Amino acid sequence: MSRPGPASPSGADQLPVIEPFLVRPRSAAVLDQVDGIFFEASGTKTFSSPLERAAFHDRWLGRYLAHDAQHAFLAFAGANDEVAGYLVGSLDDPAQSPRFDDLAYFRKLAAFTARYPANLHVNLAPEWRGRGLGQLLVDAFCRHAARAGTRGVHVFTGRGMRNVRFYQAAGFREVAATEWNGREIVMLARDLT
Ligand SMILES: CC(C)(COP(=O)(O)OP(=O)(O)OC[C@H]1O[C@@H](n2cnc3c(N)ncnc32)[C@H](O)[C@@H]1OP(=O)(O)O)[C@@H](O)C(=O)NCCC(=O)NCCS
Repeated sequence: MSRPGPASPSGADQLPVIEPFLVRPRSAAVLDQVDGIFFEASGTKTFSSPLERAAFHDRWLGRYLAHDAQHAFLAFAGANDEVAGYLVGSLDDPAQSPRFDDLAYFRKLAAFTARYPANLHVNLAPEWRGRGLGQLLVDAFCRHAARAGTRGVHVFTGRGMRNVRFYQAAGFREVAATEWNGREIVMLARDLT
């Protein structure tokens, strides 16, 4: 568990606490807050059906908590254990794992995922952005992945997205780019050796 530097947006002296997802049982309220952060942060806001919404949630969040909860982290702020942000990730090479078959870009860039197999998704509640909390979640995951012997970690994001600067500041650099769903996405990677 680590206590990061940024002050609470409300000015309260309680600082966010980062902890592994599995360190204690998680209430439905906490899971709801994680879902709320996920849908707020997502670029996709409308869905043609509840089924499509559920599939979207499963692709970017649900399957990580179902299969890789041991690699997930939460950031809690305030006295009421309010979720300030979360990070989910996997240590497996997604190009070699059938559970990521729905995302064809992994296999297309298998030479790069082999070198940087871990992948992550990090999102914060809006009031916690721009305070350094994201870096702390990423660093917690990277330390965890390195301890497990993982050689490298990657993320995909859209070319020109604001969050690219965030990943660069966290030690990621662009190693590949490809087209997906009619747009260019970049693969940013960080060495963990
Ligand atoms: C991206 C994110 C995890 C970064 O964490 P953070 O604690 O805000 O980041 P830091 O304070 O360490 O660094 C600031 C950088 O974060 C990024 N960032 C901050 N607010 C952001 C926002 N609303 N949307 C996208 N990126 C943002 C920017 O790159 C920013 O640098 P800039 O001010 O030069 O643009 C967090 O801002 C967030 O959840 N953003 C919205 C969702 C998102 O983009 N998630 C990543 C999906 S790949």
